Amino acid sequence: MLKGERVILGPVKRKYIESFLKWFNDSEINQYLVMYRPMTRMEEEEWMENLKDREDTIHLAITIPNEDGSEKLIGNCGIHKIDWKNRSAEIGIVIGEKEYQNKGYGTEAIELLLEYAFNTVNLNRIELTVYEYNVRAFKVYSKIGFIEEGRKRQFMWLRGAYHDAIVMSILAEEWNAKSKK
Ligand SMILES: CC(C)(COP(=O)(O)OP(=O)(O)OC[C@H]1O[C@@H](n2cnc3c(N)ncnc32)[C@H](O)[C@@H]1OP(=O)(O)O)[C@@H](O)C(=O)NCCC(=O)NCCS
Repeated sequence: MLKGERVILGPVKRKYIESFLKWFNDSEINQYLVMYRPMTRMEEEEWMENLKDREDTIHLAITIPNEDGSEKLIGNCGIHKIDWKNRSAEIGIVIGEKEYQNKGYGTEAIELLLEYAFNTVNLNRIELTVYEYNVRAFKVYSKIGFIEEGRKRQFMWLRGAYHDAIVMSILAEEWNAKSKK
């Protein structure tokens, strides 16, 4: 369990399936993600079942504590495609409960994830890809310290047009220099 000031990153539980299906089948949300096919319950259950055997992925639920001690699931995030030899990986995040977006939870969750990735998992490089029309996510990543490395031109077809995908990264030395300030 990774505890921040307001959010907690914890294990993915079976009871979260309903929320995951709702988020990933919502075009307002999945326009920013790689997936575009409708996600079925069977696929989601299979994905969850396989998580424990995946050496290259660490997937976490983002929750916030309720006053009564229970938790409110608001999103999920993960470290993917972990390359243990070169100590690099990609990250992804979704704040799926829309009323919890734009309240700073996403920024805090990514910061917790980076601290864990660099200083517990011992990775050296974290990469991500963000579509150019996802101005909010680009802003969040830049604010945290991700550097734009380049663009995959016309990578994404959405609503009748092609859009670039921006590749960003942050290194352990950059994160540690920033977070110690
Ligand atoms: C992207 C995402 C993770 C960010 O998390 P969040 O909790 O909503 O974001 P935060 O509240 O931490 O920060 C949002 C920042 O973007 C700014 N912002 C919001 N909407 C914006 C817009 N349309 N244009 C520019 N900036 C915007 C906010 O002002 C804030 O910046 P500030 O802290 O300097 O004020 C979340 O919105 C999300 O899951 N979106 C849908 C899925 C997605 O895009 N995932 C990422 C795929 S790469």
